[in-house]
Amino acid sequence: MKVSTTAIWDSFVRGYHWLQVLCIGGLWYTGTEGLMDWHFAIAYFLLTLLLTRIIWGFIGSDTAKFLLFVRSPRAVLQYFQSMRKKKNDDVHLGHNPAGGYMVLGFFILLTTQLITGLFANDDIISEGPLAMYITGEESSLMTEIHALNFDVMLGAIILHLVAIFFYLYKKDNLIKPMLNGRKETVTEVDTDAAPKMVNGLIGWIVFATIGSAVYSYLAKDIVAYLF
Ligand code: HEM
Ligand code: HEM
Repeated sequence: MKVSTTAIWDSFVRGYHWLQVLCIGGLWYTGTEGLMDWHFAIAYFLLTLLLTRIIWGFIGSDTAKFLLFVRSPRAVLQYFQSMRKKKNDDVHLGHNPAGGYMVLGFFILLTTQLITGLFANDDIISEGPLAMYITGEESSLMTEIHALNFDVMLGAIILHLVAIFFYLYKKDNLIKPMLNGRKETVTEVDTDAAPKMVNGLIGWIVFATIGSAVYSYLAKDIVAYLF
């Protein structure tokens, strides 16, 4: 059987995804172990990744664009209906309509986690760089939301993995494209139907630019202390 492949994830989306997985693992460990300097350093790195991903959602490849992957609720309903009828053999070159909402949910959870972290404190000596602008009570509330939101995020991650392995069981391997960027299809994809890709290098240049600002304004002291 001849298999053709189409580029669906650019290098920035792939790098963003897997670096984010490493960062969240690191933030979980350092947050619960109280290793606050490392926690802050990793969080600033993830903040840079997320800010770039949000910009990439407007200027990046078609598959990364919010306006294209966040579809109407009706499209999600139709997607589930076609799945129930087992008619769902059309290949999605990017996030499927249901997956689009999951991704949006992740961006909201991550943004909430990062913002509350900036105002949180550990009741010992560490506090986020914006905690000094609010009262101690407000900072405690932010800290509580920070811990609670993380639990919700863990739930979302479990759901995400269940969905990915469900598709794998249905012989739709979503993991491989997130690694090598390319989706395999049995029929050749029309060039008109293929998503327009933008060179991921542009994303990495935006990342480096935002990273240098985050480094100068937020991360410089922590990085100097750690290394
Ligand atoms: C900390 C854990 C994780 C988080 C927060 C997370 C979050 C995300 C996000 C936000 C996206 C959308 C990417 C984008 O459009 O930029 C995504 C996609 C994806 N993730 Fe994860 N992920 C996690 C772990 C994993 C793991 C461990 C795997 C593999 C087993 C995985 C497999 C995938 C795949 C295959 C996609 C593409 C789905 C599609 O084809 O629509 N993720 N993930
Ligand atoms: C997505 C990014 C982040 C994740 C996943 C994360 C995760 C966590 C986790 C799991 C904890 C432990 C909560 C607990 O005690 O139950 C924690 C604590 C904490 N985080 Fe984050 N965090 C993130 C971003 C940030 C940022 C940006 C800052 C500040 C710059 C920050 C500051 C703190 C502080 C001060 C604590 C201590 C709170 C306490 O002792 O109860 N975090 N974080």
